[in-house]
Amino acid sequence: MAERVPVVTIDGPSGSGKGTVAAEVARRLGWRILDSGALYRLVGYAARQAGVDLEDAAAVAAIARNLPVRFEGGRIFLGDEEVTRAIRTETAGNDASKVAAIPEVRQALLQWQRDYARPPGLVADGRDMGTVVFPGAPVKIFLDASAEERARRRHKQLKEQGIDVNLSGLVAEIEERDHRDRNRSVAPLKPAGDALVIDSTDLTVDQVVERVLEQVRRVLPQAVPGE
Ligand code: DC
Repeated sequence: MAERVPVVTIDGPSGSGKGTVAAEVARRLGWRILDSGALYRLVGYAARQAGVDLEDAAAVAAIARNLPVRFEGGRIFLGDEEVTRAIRTETAGNDASKVAAIPEVRQALLQWQRDYARPPGLVADGRDMGTVVFPGAPVKIFLDASAEERARRRHKQLKEQGIDVNLSGLVAEIEERDHRDRNRSVAPLKPAGDALVIDSTDLTVDQVVERVLEQVRRVLPQAVPGE
């Protein structure tokens, strides 16, 4: 059943615009969305809250297997605590990247992610959606952008939230996170062999969304509602 549900995977490094693009593509198609990064962020956050060493694979995997998470509309709860904003900090992103390198953690989240594929379709955003989680997806996108441009976008986003951080520090952090995500032994960040690679450095969000939808129209002509 799950295999017949059409899936569009959107992978790429942090700050490439995946989240925004995936949300808009899902809205235009009327499909569900999986923000897989949020799951890794939740594991990192829960581990830190529990005082667990983020390199203790067995302890972090146990947390991943028993995450008391609830999604309510756009809000996310861990037990009774609302963590919607707390998991979006740079620290939470870095913690997510660390726990994401643990094979048992990835295994614990695998089926959970696949269960998101329900009719009429799913847009899945992450690092290994096209390579590992949904290798049979008919449409795979790998969204990239230069580290400087990604840091600039993140800087602007944080500023809008009233958070002032140093831009060169952000570039360094993004490069460090990329390095860890691209070089880990399990499910490293890389384009699937059959992915369409889009470099968004000089493109607007609308232009990227249009390219993704063009690809969906080509492969799944029935999927895109008339506009
Ligand atoms: O997309 P994001 O920034 O919310 O992801 C946070 C971290 O989680 C990212 O640095 C690597 C990890 N991650 C992953 O390993 N696999 C995914 N499918 C999604 C995220």
